[in-house]
Amino acid sequence: MLLTAPPTAILSALAQEQNGLLALLQQPQQVRHAGRTFWQGHLQGQPVVLALSRIGKVAAATTTTALIERFGVQRIVFTGVAGGLGAGVKVGDVVVATDFLQHDLDVSPLFPRYEVPLYGQTRFVGDAALTALLFTAACGALAHEPETGRGGLVTQQFSGACVHQGLIASGDRFVSGAGESRLLQAALAVAGHEVLAVEMECAAVAQVCLDYGVPFAAVRTISDRADDSAHVDFSSFVEQVASRYAQAIIERFLMSL
Ligand code: ADE
Repeated sequence: MLLTAPPTAILSALAQEQNGLLALLQQPQQVRHAGRTFWQGHLQGQPVVLALSRIGKVAAATTTTALIERFGVQRIVFTGVAGGLGAGVKVGDVVVATDFLQHDLDVSPLFPRYEVPLYGQTRFVGDAALTALLFTAACGALAHEPETGRGGLVTQQFSGACVHQGLIASGDRFVSGAGESRLLQAALAVAGHEVLAVEMECAAVAQVCLDYGVPFAAVRTISDRADDSAHVDFSSFVEQVASRYAQAIIERFLMSL
């Protein structure tokens, strides 16, 4: 009997972030489940399932549960975009998450602000080994290493782009105002959380992965600064750039597994 390894799930929020990877998928097979489309196949010789979390924490939790329960994935990696919150986190930079929190979770005064009730923790930690591989892959992709034979990511537009590692905050809102972004950053800082980037899914994915004991890591490319022009910057980045980043980083990551 031929035993095949359980697949690696590659999760993105939006189709535009997934397109480049989908175009490279070998022996693609489409499966419809839970109102979603899952793509099984091979990338860099590895069995994978490509899936869309959709937008927001609930949708992301549903997709993650389906990946684990239905597809038996052995690890989950998220690739997508985020708004840069931390000082020096610029559009075109990459953030590899070390840990995740929900910035819109507040059950105070019953529990400390941001703490996930009954888990006794505020932050969910990414899998250390996967995170280290993603960090190396992201550095390689930005540095134009010639392993894949494709061009590097750094164009004139994003020259000086760098890879950061740190905390990512998720919440069910698109942060699109300089004032809002400052308030969010300040409130988190008061509670001792220095956040690099904000998005809408990964803390939920991390929580489900913790529940099931499935290793999880995430990489986010900065599409905007979560400021007054975030909606414009986000839209053009997602259309024009996001998929190239996902492709270059995930190919290198899968090669290193
Ligand atoms: N994803 C990308 N940019 C974002 C922002 N500004 N707020 C929330 N999620 C995002």
